[in-house]
Amino acid sequence: MLSEKAERHFTSSINLINATLADYLCIKHTPYQVVADAMEYSVDIGGKRIRPLLVLEFCKACGGDIVDALPFAAALEMIHTYSLVHDDLPCMDNDSLRRGKESTWKKFGETYGVLAGDALLTYAFQIASDAGVSDHTTVKCTRLLANYAGIYGMIGGQTLDIQNEDAESLTIEELQETHRLKTGALIRCACELGCVVGHGSAEQFEAAKVFAENLGLAFQIIDDILDVTGDPTILGKEVGQDLQNGKITYVTLLGVDGAEKLAREYTEKALEALKVFPDAEYLIEGTKYLLERNK
Ligand code: IPE
Ligand code: IPE
Ligand code: MG
Ligand code: MG
Ligand code: MG
Repeated sequence: MLSEKAERHFTSSINLINATLADYLCIKHTPYQVVADAMEYSVDIGGKRIRPLLVLEFCKACGGDIVDALPFAAALEMIHTYSLVHDDLPCMDNDSLRRGKESTWKKFGETYGVLAGDALLTYAFQIASDAGVSDHTTVKCTRLLANYAGIYGMIGGQTLDIQNEDAESLTIEELQETHRLKTGALIRCACELGCVVGHGSAEQFEAAKVFAENLGLAFQIIDDILDVTGDPTILGKEVGQDLQNGKITYVTLLGVDGAEKLAREYTEKALEALKVFPDAEYLIEGTKYLLERNK
Protein backbone atom coordinates (compact mmCIF):
# COMPACT_ATOMS: atom_id res chain seq x y z
CA MET A 1 0.00 0.00 0.00
CA LEU A 2 1.18 3.49 -0.79
CA SER A 3 1.01 6.17 1.88
CA GLU A 4 -1.68 8.81 1.35
CA LYS A 5 1.00 11.35 0.55
CA ALA A 6 2.59 9.15 -2.11
CA GLU A 7 -0.81 8.23 -3.51
CA ARG A 8 -1.61 11.94 -3.92
CA HIS A 9 1.79 12.61 -5.46
CA PHE A 10 1.54 9.82 -8.03
CA THR A 11 -2.08 10.64 -8.87
CA SER A 12 -1.12 14.20 -9.64
CA SER A 13 1.81 13.06 -11.82
CA ILE A 14 -0.41 10.56 -13.64
CA ASN A 15 -2.96 13.30 -14.31
CA LEU A 16 -0.23 15.42 -15.83
CA ILE A 17 1.02 12.53 -17.97
CA ASN A 18 -2.50 11.65 -19.11
CA ALA A 19 -3.28 15.26 -20.02
CA THR A 20 -0.07 15.42 -22.07
CA LEU A 21 -0.88 12.15 -23.83
CA ALA A 22 -4.46 13.26 -24.50
CA ASP A 23 -3.24 16.48 -26.09
CA TYR A 24 -0.90 14.64 -28.43
CA LEU A 25 -3.50 12.02 -29.30
CA CYS A 26 -6.34 14.36 -30.06
CA ILE A 27 -6.15 13.70 -33.82
CA LYS A 28 -9.58 14.41 -35.31
CA HIS A 29 -11.41 14.65 -38.63
CA THR A 30 -8.81 12.90 -40.73
CA PRO A 31 -9.41 10.49 -43.62
CA TYR A 32 -7.34 7.94 -41.68
CA GLN A 33 -9.40 8.36 -38.51
CA VAL A 34 -9.69 4.67 -37.72
CA VAL A 35 -5.98 4.40 -36.95
CA ALA A 36 -5.95 7.71 -35.05
CA ASP A 37 -8.84 6.35 -32.97
CA ALA A 38 -7.05 3.04 -32.40
CA MET A 39 -3.95 4.92 -31.22
CA GLU A 40 -5.97 7.00 -28.79
CA TYR A 41 -7.93 3.98 -27.59
CA SER A 42 -4.79 1.93 -26.88
CA VAL A 43 -3.23 4.66 -24.76
CA ASP A 44 -6.43 5.95 -23.19
CA ILE A 45 -7.86 2.70 -21.82
CA GLY A 46 -5.48 2.65 -18.90
CA GLY A 47 -2.09 1.44 -17.84
CA LYS A 48 -0.13 2.13 -14.71
CA ARG A 49 2.12 4.70 -16.44
CA ILE A 50 5.18 3.31 -14.66
CA ARG A 51 7.64 4.36 -17.35
CA PRO A 52 6.54 8.01 -17.69
CA LEU A 53 6.40 8.23 -13.90
CA LEU A 54 10.01 7.06 -13.75
CA VAL A 55 11.02 9.69 -16.30
CA LEU A 56 9.51 12.43 -14.14
CA GLU A 57 10.85 11.05 -10.84
CA PHE A 58 14.42 10.76 -12.13
CA CYS A 59 14.27 14.19 -13.71
CA LYS A 60 13.22 15.60 -10.33
CA ALA A 61 15.74 13.52 -8.40
CA CYS A 62 18.49 15.09 -10.53
CA GLY A 63 17.14 18.58 -9.88
CA GLY A 64 15.41 19.12 -13.25
CA ASP A 65 12.07 20.61 -14.24
CA ILE A 66 9.47 17.94 -15.01
CA VAL A 67 7.77 20.18 -17.59
CA ASP A 68 10.80 19.62 -19.82
CA ALA A 69 10.52 15.87 -19.31
CA LEU A 70 6.82 15.52 -20.15
CA PRO A 71 7.16 15.15 -23.95
CA PHE A 72 9.74 12.39 -23.49
CA ALA A 73 7.59 10.72 -20.84
CA ALA A 74 4.66 10.75 -23.27
CA ALA A 75 6.82 9.49 -26.14
CA LEU A 76 8.04 6.59 -24.04
CA GLU A 77 4.52 5.65 -22.93
CA MET A 78 3.52 5.60 -26.60
CA ILE A 79 6.38 3.26 -27.42
CA HIS A 80 5.46 1.04 -24.48
CA THR A 81 1.81 1.03 -25.56
CA TYR A 82 2.78 0.14 -29.12
CA SER A 83 4.82 -2.77 -27.75
CA LEU A 84 1.71 -4.02 -25.95
CA VAL A 85 -0.54 -3.52 -29.00
CA HIS A 86 1.79 -5.68 -31.07
CA ASP A 87 2.50 -8.10 -28.21
CA ASP A 88 -1.24 -8.91 -28.08
CA LEU A 89 -1.56 -9.69 -31.80
CA PRO A 90 -2.57 -13.24 -32.74
CA CYS A 91 0.88 -13.82 -34.26
CA MET A 92 2.49 -12.85 -30.95
CA ASP A 93 0.80 -13.64 -27.60
CA ASN A 94 -2.75 -13.71 -28.99
CA ASP A 95 -4.40 -11.76 -26.17
CA SER A 96 -7.92 -10.34 -26.32
CA LEU A 97 -7.87 -8.37 -23.07
CA ARG A 98 -5.57 -5.46 -22.30
CA ARG A 99 -5.80 -2.79 -19.62
CA GLY A 100 -9.25 -4.11 -18.71
CA LYS A 101 -10.65 -3.66 -22.22
CA GLU A 102 -10.60 -5.43 -25.56
CA SER A 103 -7.05 -5.42 -26.91
CA THR A 104 -6.54 -3.11 -29.87
CA TRP A 105 -6.54 -5.78 -32.59
CA LYS A 106 -9.68 -7.34 -31.09
CA LYS A 107 -11.51 -4.02 -31.24
CA PHE A 108 -10.17 -2.60 -34.51
CA GLY A 109 -9.04 -5.72 -36.36
CA GLU A 110 -5.52 -7.00 -36.92
CA THR A 111 -4.61 -4.69 -39.78
CA TYR A 112 -5.47 -1.54 -37.90
CA GLY A 113 -3.87 -2.99 -34.77
CA VAL A 114 -0.57 -3.30 -36.64
CA LEU A 115 -0.90 0.19 -38.11
CA ALA A 116 -1.86 1.78 -34.77
CA GLY A 117 1.26 0.26 -33.21
CA ASP A 118 3.42 1.50 -36.08
CA ALA A 119 1.88 4.95 -35.81
CA LEU A 120 2.43 5.18 -32.04
CA LEU A 121 6.08 4.25 -32.45
CA THR A 122 6.65 6.82 -35.18
CA TYR A 123 4.65 9.52 -33.43
CA ALA A 124 6.81 9.04 -30.33
CA PHE A 125 9.88 10.11 -32.34
CA GLN A 126 8.04 13.07 -33.81
CA ILE A 127 7.16 14.21 -30.28
CA ALA A 128 10.66 13.62 -28.92
CA SER A 129 12.31 15.52 -31.76
CA ASP A 130 10.02 18.48 -31.12
CA ALA A 131 10.14 18.51 -27.33
CA GLY A 132 11.11 22.15 -26.93
CA VAL A 133 14.37 21.56 -25.04
CA SER A 134 17.93 22.20 -26.25
CA ASP A 135 19.11 20.41 -29.40
CA HIS A 136 21.72 18.61 -27.34
CA THR A 137 19.14 17.20 -24.92
CA THR A 138 16.78 16.36 -27.79
CA VAL A 139 19.42 14.34 -29.62
CA LYS A 140 20.49 12.50 -26.48
CA CYS A 141 16.92 11.59 -25.55
CA THR A 142 15.95 10.55 -29.08
CA ARG A 143 19.01 8.32 -29.23
CA LEU A 144 18.02 6.68 -25.93
CA LEU A 145 14.50 6.00 -27.20
CA ALA A 146 15.81 4.48 -30.44
CA ASN A 147 18.45 2.40 -28.72
CA TYR A 148 16.21 0.95 -26.01
CA ALA A 149 13.11 0.43 -28.16
CA GLY A 150 14.83 -1.28 -31.08
CA ILE A 151 16.85 -4.35 -31.91
CA TYR A 152 19.38 -3.69 -29.14
CA GLY A 153 16.54 -3.32 -26.64
CA MET A 154 12.85 -4.19 -26.44
CA ILE A 155 12.53 -5.70 -29.94
CA GLY A 156 15.62 -7.82 -29.32
CA GLY A 157 13.98 -9.06 -26.13
CA GLN A 158 10.63 -9.75 -27.77
CA THR A 159 12.48 -11.79 -30.38
CA LEU A 160 14.21 -13.88 -27.73
CA ASP A 161 10.87 -14.27 -25.95
CA ILE A 162 9.20 -15.67 -29.07
CA GLN A 163 12.17 -17.97 -29.73
CA ASN A 164 11.91 -19.16 -26.15
CA GLU A 165 8.47 -20.59 -26.91
CA ASP A 166 10.11 -23.34 -28.95
CA ALA A 167 12.92 -24.01 -26.49
CA GLU A 168 12.90 -27.33 -24.69
CA SER A 169 14.67 -25.80 -21.75
CA LEU A 170 16.13 -22.49 -20.74
CA THR A 171 18.73 -21.44 -18.22
CA ILE A 172 18.13 -18.68 -15.69
CA GLU A 173 20.78 -16.65 -17.51
CA GLU A 174 18.97 -16.95 -20.86
CA LEU A 175 15.69 -15.98 -19.25
CA GLN A 176 17.33 -13.07 -17.51
CA GLU A 177 18.73 -11.78 -20.81
CA THR A 178 15.25 -11.95 -22.37
CA HIS A 179 13.72 -10.03 -19.46
CA ARG A 180 16.56 -7.53 -19.36
CA LEU A 181 15.78 -6.62 -22.95
CA LYS A 182 12.05 -7.06 -23.45
CA THR A 183 11.03 -5.28 -20.25
CA GLY A 184 14.21 -3.88 -18.70
CA ALA A 185 15.18 -1.83 -21.76
CA LEU A 186 12.21 0.55 -21.66
CA ILE A 187 12.48 0.87 -17.88
CA ARG A 188 16.13 1.74 -18.21
CA CYS A 189 15.22 4.17 -20.98
CA ALA A 190 12.77 5.88 -18.61
CA CYS A 191 15.29 6.39 -15.84
CA GLU A 192 18.02 7.60 -18.20
CA LEU A 193 15.67 10.01 -19.99
CA GLY A 194 14.89 11.56 -16.60
CA CYS A 195 18.61 11.92 -15.84
CA VAL A 196 19.35 13.51 -19.24
CA VAL A 197 16.57 16.09 -18.95
CA GLY A 198 17.48 16.73 -15.31
CA HIS A 199 21.19 17.09 -16.20
CA GLY A 200 22.18 14.44 -13.68
CA SER A 201 25.76 13.85 -12.63
CA ALA A 202 27.80 10.83 -13.77
CA GLU A 203 27.20 9.26 -10.37
CA GLN A 204 23.45 9.77 -10.67
CA PHE A 205 23.45 8.22 -14.16
CA GLU A 206 25.32 5.18 -12.93
CA ALA A 207 22.91 4.80 -10.01
CA ALA A 208 19.90 5.16 -12.32
CA LYS A 209 21.25 2.38 -14.55
CA VAL A 210 21.77 -0.01 -11.66
CA PHE A 211 18.35 0.87 -10.27
CA ALA A 212 16.65 0.31 -13.63
CA GLU A 213 18.45 -2.98 -14.39
CA ASN A 214 17.24 -4.41 -11.11
CA LEU A 215 13.75 -2.92 -11.18
CA GLY A 216 13.30 -4.17 -14.75
CA LEU A 217 14.07 -7.74 -13.74
CA ALA A 218 11.89 -7.56 -10.62
CA PHE A 219 9.06 -6.05 -12.68
CA GLN A 220 8.98 -8.84 -15.26
CA ILE A 221 9.30 -11.57 -12.62
CA ILE A 222 6.21 -10.14 -10.90
CA ASP A 223 4.47 -9.98 -14.30
CA ASP A 224 5.23 -13.69 -14.76
CA ILE A 225 3.97 -14.48 -11.24
CA LEU A 226 0.75 -12.51 -11.81
CA ASP A 227 0.18 -14.50 -14.99
CA VAL A 228 -0.17 -17.52 -12.66
CA THR A 229 -1.65 -16.06 -9.47
CA GLY A 230 -3.35 -12.86 -10.67
CA ASP A 231 -7.03 -11.99 -10.94
CA PRO A 232 -7.86 -10.95 -14.52
CA THR A 233 -10.54 -8.51 -13.33
CA ILE A 234 -7.88 -6.62 -11.34
CA LEU A 235 -4.97 -7.28 -13.68
CA GLY A 236 -6.91 -6.15 -16.75
CA LYS A 237 -5.39 -8.92 -18.88
CA GLU A 238 -5.88 -12.63 -19.26
CA VAL A 239 -3.98 -15.00 -16.98
CA GLY A 240 -2.48 -18.39 -17.79
CA GLN A 241 -1.25 -17.01 -21.11
CA ASP A 242 2.41 -17.90 -20.59
CA LEU A 243 1.57 -21.56 -19.99
CA GLN A 244 -0.80 -21.58 -22.94
CA ASN A 245 1.87 -20.07 -25.19
CA GLY A 246 4.47 -22.57 -23.98
CA LYS A 247 6.67 -19.93 -22.36
CA ILE A 248 9.31 -20.81 -19.85
CA THR A 249 9.22 -18.17 -17.10
CA TYR A 250 10.78 -17.64 -13.70
CA VAL A 251 7.74 -19.38 -12.23
CA THR A 252 8.39 -22.44 -14.41
CA LEU A 253 12.03 -22.52 -13.34
CA LEU A 254 11.78 -21.51 -9.67
CA GLY A 255 8.14 -21.87 -8.63
CA VAL A 256 6.08 -18.96 -7.30
CA ASP A 257 7.98 -18.76 -3.98
CA GLY A 258 11.40 -18.90 -5.62
CA ALA A 259 10.39 -16.26 -8.16
CA GLU A 260 9.03 -13.98 -5.40
CA LYS A 261 12.27 -14.32 -3.47
CA LEU A 262 14.27 -13.32 -6.53
CA ALA A 263 12.00 -10.34 -7.23
CA ARG A 264 12.57 -9.23 -3.61
CA GLU A 265 16.33 -9.51 -4.05
CA TYR A 266 16.30 -7.43 -7.23
CA THR A 267 14.07 -4.85 -5.54
CA GLU A 268 16.53 -4.59 -2.63
CA LYS A 269 19.36 -3.96 -5.08
CA ALA A 270 17.29 -1.33 -6.89
CA LEU A 271 16.55 0.43 -3.59
CA GLU A 272 20.22 0.32 -2.62
CA ALA A 273 21.12 2.19 -5.82
CA LEU A 274 18.78 5.06 -4.93
CA LYS A 275 20.99 6.05 -2.01
CA VAL A 276 22.95 8.59 -4.05
CA PHE A 277 19.83 10.69 -4.59
CA PRO A 278 19.24 13.09 -1.71
CA ASP A 279 15.49 13.21 -2.28
CA ALA A 280 14.09 9.92 -3.56
CA GLU A 281 11.21 9.47 -1.11
CA TYR A 282 8.58 8.70 -3.76
CA LEU A 283 10.91 6.58 -5.87
CA ILE A 284 11.60 4.43 -2.82
CA GLU A 285 7.93 4.05 -1.94
CA GLY A 286 6.93 3.41 -5.54
CA THR A 287 9.60 0.73 -5.97
CA LYS A 288 8.46 -1.13 -2.87
CA TYR A 289 4.86 -0.84 -4.04
CA LEU A 290 5.70 -2.45 -7.38
CA LEU A 291 6.92 -5.57 -5.59
CA GLU A 292 3.54 -5.96 -3.84
CA ARG A 293 1.43 -5.00 -6.85
CA ASN A 294 -1.57 -7.09 -7.95
CA LYS A 295 -1.94 -5.45 -11.35
C1 IPE B 1 3.19 -4.91 -19.17
O1 IPE B 1 3.67 -3.69 -18.70
C2 IPE B 1 4.19 -5.57 -20.04
C3 IPE B 1 5.48 -5.80 -19.40
C4 IPE B 1 6.55 -5.27 -19.87
C5 IPE B 1 5.57 -6.64 -18.25
P1 IPE B 1 2.87 -2.90 -17.60
O2 IPE B 1 2.51 -3.83 -16.46
O3 IPE B 1 3.60 -1.68 -17.23
O4 IPE B 1 1.52 -2.54 -18.38
P2 IPE B 1 0.57 -1.28 -18.25
O5 IPE B 1 1.25 -0.15 -18.95
O6 IPE B 1 0.33 -1.01 -16.79
O7 IPE B 1 -0.68 -1.70 -18.96
C1 IPE C 1 5.61 -8.10 -22.85
O1 IPE C 1 5.81 -9.14 -22.01
C2 IPE C 1 6.79 -7.23 -22.96
C3 IPE C 1 6.59 -6.24 -24.02
C4 IPE C 1 5.44 -5.91 -24.55
C5 IPE C 1 7.76 -5.62 -24.54
P1 IPE C 1 4.52 -10.02 -21.74
O2 IPE C 1 4.00 -10.64 -22.97
O3 IPE C 1 4.77 -10.89 -20.58
O4 IPE C 1 3.49 -8.87 -21.28
P2 IPE C 1 1.97 -9.10 -20.94
O5 IPE C 1 1.92 -10.11 -19.84
O6 IPE C 1 1.29 -9.53 -22.20
O7 IPE C 1 1.52 -7.74 -20.46
MG1 MG D 1 4.82 -11.23 -24.82
MG1 MG E 1 1.95 -10.69 -23.67
MG1 MG F 1 3.29 -11.33 -19.09
